[in-house]
Amino acid sequence: MSDQPISYLDQSDAVKARFDKLKQREVILDVKGLGKTYDSHQGPVTALQDINFKTHRREFVCVIGPSGCGKSTLIRILAGLESHSSGEVLLDGQPVNGPGRDRGMVFQGYTLFPWLTVKKNVMFGLEVNNAGRNEAESQARQWLELVGLSKFADHYPHQLSGGMKQRVAIARALANQPRILLMDEPFGALDAQTRAKMQSHLLEIWKNIDITILFITHDLDEAIFLADRILVLKAHPGAVQELIEVPVPRPRSAMQITNPEFQATKARLEALIHPPTEQPEHDEEAEVMPKVIRLTDVADNVE
Ligand SMILES: Nc1ncnc2c1ncn2[C@@H]1O[C@H](COP(=O)(O)OP(=O)(O)OP(=O)(O)O)[C@@H](O)[C@H]1O
Ligand SMILES: [Mg+2]
Repeated sequence: MSDQPISYLDQSDAVKARFDKLKQREVILDVKGLGKTYDSHQGPVTALQDINFKTHRREFVCVIGPSGCGKSTLIRILAGLESHSSGEVLLDGQPVNGPGRDRGMVFQGYTLFPWLTVKKNVMFGLEVNNAGRNEAESQARQWLELVGLSKFADHYPHQLSGGMKQRVAIARALANQPRILLMDEPFGALDAQTRAKMQSHLLEIWKNIDITILFITHDLDEAIFLADRILVLKAHPGAVQELIEVPVPRPRSAMQITNPEFQATKARLEALIHPPTEQPEHDEEAEVMPKVIRLTDVADNVE
C-alpha cells in the first residue's frame, strides 16, 4: 500500500491547504513493508504484515484498530524495544534497530521510578545521556514548567494523581528532545474528565515545541480530537486498513464533537472498526451468553 491516504471524507479548502502544507514538510518516520511474526507455543503468530506509512515533521498521527491488531507491537518496534521480521523503519532516513534518545516513549501504565522525586525522574534520562547534574536539573525544571508541574518537583510519584503522573512521564520523554514521541494509550487509565484535560494539554505542548507524535488509542473521539491523520489497522494479521486525513479544522475544541466533519470522521471509523457482519446460521464461534441462575429469595422482582 502506498502512503497516499484513502479518504472518503469531504474536506474544506482550508483543510485541503493544511494537508498540502503538511505533506511538504520533511518525512521524520518512514515505515516500509514492516512485518512481525512471533514464535509462540501454538506456532508462528503474524502480528503485523506489510505496514507502510510516513509521518511528517510536527505531524500528529493516531493509530486505532481492534484489540490484538498489533498497535503495541508496532510502537515497540518503532521504539526499538522489539525486533521486526521484515521491512524497515527509517527515522530521519536512518534505520531503527534498537532504542535511542531520538524516540521518546509514554505508556499507559505509570512508569515513573517511585523512589525518585518528580524532578529526579525527569533528570534521570538526561543524566544517563551524559548531561551534567546542573544542566540536567535546569532542563528538568524547564520541562516540568511546560507540563505545569514546577510546584511538584520535589514530590514523589505516589503523591500525584494519575494525570499528573502522565504529565511527568511526558516531561521525561520530551527532556531528551526526541524527534518523535511514541505514546501507547497514555490516557487509557484516566477518568473521562482528566483524560479530556490531558488531550487539550497535549495539543498545547505539541503546538509549542518541535515534536512529531504517534499516539495509539482505542477511543475514536480521542483520535479525531488529536490527530492530523488516523492510521486504521485491522486484525489477523495486523495490516493498514485506511489512512484518514481528519477534516476537522484546528485549533480543536471539545465543542467540535457535534460538527459535521467530526461526525463524518467518526462514522467512517466506526464502519471500519465495527463493520456490519452477516450472522451465519450456525456460528460456533459466536459467543452465547448463559442464562443467569437465580441466587436470591427476595420476593419482589426487579424488571
Ligand atoms: N511476545 C509475544 N509473543 C507472542 N505473541 C505476541 C506477543 N506480543 C503480542 N503478541 C500477539 O501479537 C498480536 C498483537 O498484539 P499487540 O499487543 O501488539 O496488539 P494491540 O493492538 O496492542 O492490542 P490491545 O488493543 O489489546 O492493546 C496479538 O495476537 C498478540 O497475542
Ligand atoms: Mg496494545
